[in-house]
Amino acid sequence: MKITSKLVVQMALMIPLLVAMMLNTQVTPADEMEDESVFTPSYLSYDDIYRDFTTKKMCKRCHPAIWREWERSMHAKAWEDPIYQEAASKVPDRDKTCDPCHAPEPILITGIGQMPKLRETDRKYGVSCIVCHIDAHGAMHGPHESTNPMYHANVTSEAHAKPTELCATCHGQPSVPEHNQVDSFRDSPAAEKGLNCASCHMPAVKRQLSIHTYDTVMVRRHTWAGSRSVSKLKSAVNLKVVRTEGKAIVRLTNKAGHLLPGEALRAMILEVKITDSSGAVNRDEQVLISASSSKPETGRLLPGETRDFVYSLSETEKIEVRLRYRLTPTTPETEWVTMAEGSQ
Ligand code: HEC
Ligand code: HEC
Ligand code: HEC
Ligand code: HEC
Ligand code: HEC
Repeated sequence: MKITSKLVVQMALMIPLLVAMMLNTQVTPADEMEDESVFTPSYLSYDDIYRDFTTKKMCKRCHPAIWREWERSMHAKAWEDPIYQEAASKVPDRDKTCDPCHAPEPILITGIGQMPKLRETDRKYGVSCIVCHIDAHGAMHGPHESTNPMYHANVTSEAHAKPTELCATCHGQPSVPEHNQVDSFRDSPAAEKGLNCASCHMPAVKRQLSIHTYDTVMVRRHTWAGSRSVSKLKSAVNLKVVRTEGKAIVRLTNKAGHLLPGEALRAMILEVKITDSSGAVNRDEQVLISASSSKPETGRLLPGETRDFVYSLSETEKIEVRLRYRLTPTTPETEWVTMAEGSQ
């Protein structure tokens, strides 16, 4: 099965190769390829692929499903994102302290875990396909043992199969705590269970690796849903209201893989309303939970943490609770997302 499908891939891809050879482009004939031990020889150079990416969006041609997902993700918008541009415009040395992660050079070249370098060209593509996949030879690193497509070589990479360290290159720099989800993840219940960043942010799906592939295999969607996804936000927390003698306990449990909210700009607002049997409001308050809080009881929730908020409540009173999510301090209340609700 495998061999047949790989042959089909090879045959389909031989045609453009032969055409390219006839047109005398920079295709290297097989007998000139050396040093197979280091990487599978690439038929196009790093510069060719880099140029094709920006001028022809080449990846889209053969990996259209992944392209469509990426295009809608915040990675594709990491540079043009107006919230980013506004924040960065206030930073005098932004080209050194901000821009390098929002429009980076390929990280397999600058090094996984190293602070990325700012790209000189095509910043509008943000965190693009090549930022995560291309190496200095023009080969693509991925988790599978792929057929070589003749366009680019493939290198099987453990760093992509379990990508927490790959993600940490931008989501776990110790000098940038506002954007650090990785450190809190390391001792989380999710990490203990053997999950990684992709388990929750790149859902598994069975499909072809490329349009030239016959078999369908388990791959991962390139969606990276996060704080803009209502279902993701709802899955982040468990809210329970427990009534005991003379009081109500509002219990929040963080089910995300890291600090909640995941980023320093965000906030959760716990709205609590206590009414008596006639409907009169005895208490109505909003508790802000965010990184900017100076008190631990209203700071961000650690992964797996359960936190209680206790209210006195008489037998005739009723409590209604709503947990809402605010993207930035200027997001109007009408756009806050309801993460969870409860009453007693
Ligand atoms: C932020 C980093 C990142 C970006 C950006 C990115 N990828 Fe990936 N890609 C990954 C990771 C991690 C995996 C491995 C997922 C897994 O374990 O299956 C992967 C897997 C793949 C695979 C193998 C199939 C699979 O899902 O396992 C292909 C093909 C691929 N990516 C192509 C692309 C293309 C094309 C783009 C741009 C449209 C892109 N990637 C953008 C990180 C990235
Ligand atoms: C001419 C078609 C073609 C183009 C263009 C193309 N790819 Fe691929 N790519 C393939 C094929 C074919 C495979 C192997 C599929 C298989 O083994 O079934 C592949 C595999 C991959 C893999 C998986 C590697 C692995 O082993 O897990 C990654 C990652 C990848 N491509 C990224 C990219 C990126 C990024 C671009 C754009 C710069 C791109 N590809 C452009 C055809 C193409
Ligand atoms: C090269 C740097 C870089 C790498 C590597 C990277 N990211 Fe990102 N990621 C970013 C940037 C920058 C943004 C923010 C874009 C914005 O909002 O302006 C982002 C946004 C996100 C978001 C969306 C947040 C939201 O609220 O919508 C998620 C989720 C995410 N990344 C997960 C991952 C995962 C998982 C990995 C590893 C597979 C990864 N990222 C690898 C730079 C990176
Ligand atoms: C180490 C890499 C890195 C550096 C340096 C960096 N960022 Fe980011 N930035 C990210 C990542 C990753 C995200 C997405 C995850 C998050 O929001 O925590 C992000 C998200 C953001 C967001 C949220 C955007 C949105 O729409 O949700 C803002 C605003 C932002 N960055 C501003 C800045 C500013 C301003 C600087 C410089 C002072 C900066 N960043 C430096 C990696 C970085
Ligand atoms: C158990 C599932 C799970 C795991 C594992 C996980 N996350 Fe998340 N992540 C979530 C949920 C749920 C949210 C939505 C809540 C939020 O935005 O804080 C989220 C949100 C995010 C956001 C958006 C934060 C914001 O405020 O915009 C980023 C970025 C992110 N995760 C990156 C990562 C990275 C990097 C890893 C690996 C260290 C990771 N996540 C591991 C579940 C997970």
